[in-house]
Amino acid sequence: MTPELSQLFEFLRFPSISTDSRHKGDVRACAEWLDAKLTGMGLTSTIHETAGHPIVVARNQHVEGKLNLMIYGHYDVQPVDPVELWASPPFEPEIRDGKIYARGATDNKGQMFAHVLGVEKALADGELPVNLTLLFEGEEEIGSKNLTPFLEAHREELACDVIAVSDTGMVGPGIPTMGYGLRGITCGEVIVTGPSSDLHSGVYGGSVMNPVTAVARIVASLHDADEKVAIDGFYSDVAPLEDWEREAWSKVPFGEKEYLAETGAPASVGEAGYTVAERLWGRPTAEVNGIGGGYQGEGSKTVIAREAMAKLSFRLVPGQDPDDILDKVEAHVMANAPKGVDVKFVRGHSGEPYLNDPHSDYGKAAQASLATTFGKEPVLIREGGSIPIINTFKTILGADSLMLGLAVPGCKIHAPNESFNVENFEAGIELNQELIRRLGALGKKS
Ligand code: BES
Ligand code: ZN
Repeated sequence: MTPELSQLFEFLRFPSISTDSRHKGDVRACAEWLDAKLTGMGLTSTIHETAGHPIVVARNQHVEGKLNLMIYGHYDVQPVDPVELWASPPFEPEIRDGKIYARGATDNKGQMFAHVLGVEKALADGELPVNLTLLFEGEEEIGSKNLTPFLEAHREELACDVIAVSDTGMVGPGIPTMGYGLRGITCGEVIVTGPSSDLHSGVYGGSVMNPVTAVARIVASLHDADEKVAIDGFYSDVAPLEDWEREAWSKVPFGEKEYLAETGAPASVGEAGYTVAERLWGRPTAEVNGIGGGYQGEGSKTVIAREAMAKLSFRLVPGQDPDDILDKVEAHVMANAPKGVDVKFVRGHSGEPYLNDPHSDYGKAAQASLATTFGKEPVLIREGGSIPIINTFKTILGADSLMLGLAVPGCKIHAPNESFNVENFEAGIELNQELIRRLGALGKKS
């Protein structure tokens, strides 16, 4: 195994699951390991305490006149359940068929460590041509709550011209991809309560509203028969896709067939009038992430449950405001609440959508770096996923983010058997050296 891979394996062995308080110590140990690695590379690295998990910031010596580049990533990971579906233990990385299997292999430890090693190689060639700041957080998977106040408090020290992030996807293996947009998100939970206790469904059925039926009706009311979101005003601020995007995306080697193979779904279903790529990258959605209530065990149980719930999330596109959408969702849920039950809507977390100009000088330098590394012109896409802090970087630091994703379709982020292609890990290291070189040559804009 190469020294690069064995270091990545060390990094992957920390179960840095941010959402689970039992792993608080593991998240910290992971931050300490990262800090030691960055210090060992000759950077000045600091672990910053927050109300939650620590933030690691490292920098070279900054000098007047060089471009300030920030590299952002996250060292926290998603939970591993259902753990029995993993072919190898999630925190004992293993290579099979050219892929590294582990939780965090792609999202985001593998991708962020390619940044780190790219910087290490660039440092070995001499002084960096950029003023570099590496910012790694441990709370991306739980909404980056403590990073926003940290950015506000360290605005000056973190000032930068542009940010590089590898926490997004490639449209296919070997197809260099630059993301210039992310969907936003807003979440909420519907809680329906009916009778004061579970009831016999024969003795009481037909005379009270069943909370599970009520939740099902509310969920069913979210879409119309054409798969459009049926919430009043949901689309009213949606920025239409630009012609150049529709044209460019139509050429991206990404189609219905590939998508079905990747998802395993029997058919692709979505908003009429849009291609799969347009639905994913440029249109807003409503999703049910969980629904529950009533008997879930073996056989049948004739009961009317006293309570039922559904967890909802909405992916948003430029123009839409998460708070405004959540107001509209809440009004819709209340308007569709059947009689005879109490319906409560609990508002959850949100993140703004993000869009930049891929044809800026920085964007062009990033595209040229991708082309050199992969030997092919990159495709330009927006992403369906969300990284809420990217828009916060723009509002607080005034800097745009270059999204150089290395996740391939089928890498199973957030799912059992997450993997990262060894080939992409290696390409990522090269890509980062190239990016530093090209952004350095671009120099500071006056
Ligand atoms: N890296 C992902 C986001 C992502 C994945 C963007 C693939 C583009 C392509 C990130 O770690 C993530 O999972 N984000 C969450 C954010 C949410 C918890 C606020 C998401 O998108 O669900
Ligand atoms: Zn993630």
